[in-house]
This record gives sequence, C-alpha cells and structure tokens, in this order.
Amino acid sequence: MTISDTSAGPSLDAPAIARLSASYAEARILHSAVEVGLFELLAEGPLSQGEICARLELHPRLVRDFLGAVAALGLIGREGARYRLTPEVAQFLVPGGPLYLGARIRTAAQRHYHTWGRLTEALRDGEPKAGVGADAFATLYGNPEATRNFLVHMDANNGVVGPQLAEAVDWSAYSSFVDVGGARGNVAAHLVRRHPHLTGGVFELPAVQPFFEEYMAELGLSGRVVFHPGDFFADALPQTDVLVFGHVLHDWSQDARQELLDRTHAVLPPGGAVVVYDQMLDEEAPDLRSLVGSLNVGLITPGGSEYTVSECRTWVEKSGFTFLSATRLARGNDTVVVAAKRD
Ligand SMILES: C[S@@+](CC[C@H](N)C(=O)[O-])C[C@H]1O[C@@H](n2cnc3c(N)ncnc32)[C@H](O)[C@@H]1O
Repeated sequence: MTISDTSAGPSLDAPAIARLSASYAEARILHSAVEVGLFELLAEGPLSQGEICARLELHPRLVRDFLGAVAALGLIGREGARYRLTPEVAQFLVPGGPLYLGARIRTAAQRHYHTWGRLTEALRDGEPKAGVGADAFATLYGNPEATRNFLVHMDANNGVVGPQLAEAVDWSAYSSFVDVGGARGNVAAHLVRRHPHLTGGVFELPAVQPFFEEYMAELGLSGRVVFHPGDFFADALPQTDVLVFGHVLHDWSQDARQELLDRTHAVLPPGGAVVVYDQMLDEEAPDLRSLVGSLNVGLITPGGSEYTVSECRTWVEKSGFTFLSATRLARGNDTVVVAAKRD
C-alpha cells in the first residue's frame, strides 16, 4: 500500500529534526547578545574578543564560542581578530532607531521564552503560563521599566502596520478615529501624518499616558493625537468616526471580543466604521508564523488566540456591522478587516 503524504510542511530528515529540537539555543544566543549589550558596544567600532569581554564585564570562559556563534548566525561580522557590527543588522539591533527590535527580543528573552517552557503543561491543563495573574496588563504596568520595554516592543510589532493601514482604509470617508488599545500611539501617529485631515486619538489604560505623551512630544505630534484614558470593558468608548482594534481582540476570549464589538457598534455614528487588525489565520492552511503567534497569546492570556477572517466577520455582523473588506497586508503578517455601521 502506498502512503501518500498530503502535509504541506517541509520534509524533515533526522539532522533537521535534531536541529529543530535544539533551535532554542540559537534564539538564546541572540537574546544574550542583546541582553549583554553587544550590539551597542560594537556600534562604537570593531573590537577584539578580549576588549569585548572587558567592556561587557563577561567571564572569559564561554566568550570565544559565544562571539563565534553570534558571527556564525550572521548577526555580527569578523575583521581579522576583531568583531564588527554590520550595517544591515545595526538598524534592528542598535537602540534608538525606528526599526529597533531589541525591546521585542528582551520580551522574548525575559518573558515569552519561560512561558513557552510550559507549553506541555498548558496543553494538558489549558491554563495560561505567563505567571502574570488574570490581569496581565495591571501586572505589567506596575513596573515602569517593563512598561517602557513593552510599549517599544509594540512599536516594533505595529511599525510595519501603520503605513499600510494608512492605505488599506479609505480614510477620506472619515474625519476622526481612535485607536483602542493603541499603546503609545505609534499607529495613530502614522495615520495623522499620512492623512492630515484626520483627528486622531488613542484610548488606553491610564498607566500608558505618560509614555504616550513623551512619545508624541518626541515625534512632534503633541496635541495632534489625543489620549483618552480608560478601561474598554468598564468605560464608554470615545465618540469618533472610526474605532481601530489592532492586536487587541486576540488578547481576549470570544465573549469579550463580542462585548467590545457590541460596545463599538453602540458608540459609533451611522456611517462610522470599525477596523480590526491581527495575524488572522488562513482558513485552510494557517502558516507556522501565525500559529506560533496564536499559541504565544494563548500561553499568556486565559482566552486569547488568533482567529480567521470568517470568525471576525461573524462577530462584527453579530454586533450589527456590515462587513466591507478583509485585506492581507503585503508586509508583516496582519490582515485588516473593515466593517461599517449603516444605521
Ligand atoms: C497587544 S497590545 C496592542 C497595541 C497596539 N494596538 C498594536 O497594534 O501594537 C494591547 C493593548 O491593549 C491595551 N489594553 C489592554 N487592556 C485594556 C483595557 N481594559 N482598556 C484599554 N486598553 C487596554 C494594552 O495597554 C495594550 O497597549
């Protein structure tokens, strides 16, 4: 009997499976390189192993192999006996630029990596494993350094979305929007810059406000995007033409998502719209990246997961919206759903 292989995945041999089993090691090399400050040190110029060891105050025992591995991963270059930063990687790993990924990598290193270590346990009991309690955001925002890291991490997540969202929706039909759970305003900033006729806002938990104000000042947009403090389950959502939910619905259970969409429909004017973006799962063959994202949010929150466009359409229609469009963005991994309030 012939057994046909209908799986869409890659065909794996024994070395590939063994390598997959240890692929956490490569992630940890990147995490440690960020955590010890290797990239910002090399931004000053090429250095030898001994100089790196001394400047970063590392024990010499593992450093030769560590630096060799960072170089073998293509994250730094070698010039004779010295290591150097490469311009391609510098933009992502040296702090300060708009494309910086270090905050995201620190989140992975300090939180997600440990949470993923409990996947087997979560598969058995269905419980979240981030150890942050029922209200993950209250726990997070109790720590200002972790808050800043999280918000910069959100910029890295949504930085690719903002410019595309500015084109994916017909903003000429609206005069205002509020980004609900809009973090420190990165997406809102893109929208008001690209569409100066729009009045922009961010609705967020009050703890985010100082970080938002600081960031808007840095971008020269103070007063251009207004902060609305509140809890989207307890407080009225702001009156505006468009309410945006980006990487928000995936944090909550299906009932909570429906509640947010019902509240959104109730507050919008006729002709208004809801815009939702998330890493939506392909209906037939969800890709690995989206599935990893879905498991990640499922490991952190009690009810979160990614979802399909059809599911999103069902929820918005149940809330009374007319589904307008679903657009898979060309860059990144998000899909944008737009639905209108007709009456
Ligand atoms: C995963 S982040 C998404 C941030 C941003 N929209 C993006 O696309 O990157 C979820 C955001 O929802 C906010 N949030 C969580 N619970 C909230 C609540 N009850 N009321 C208002 N905002 C909330 C968090 O502070 C956080 O910034």
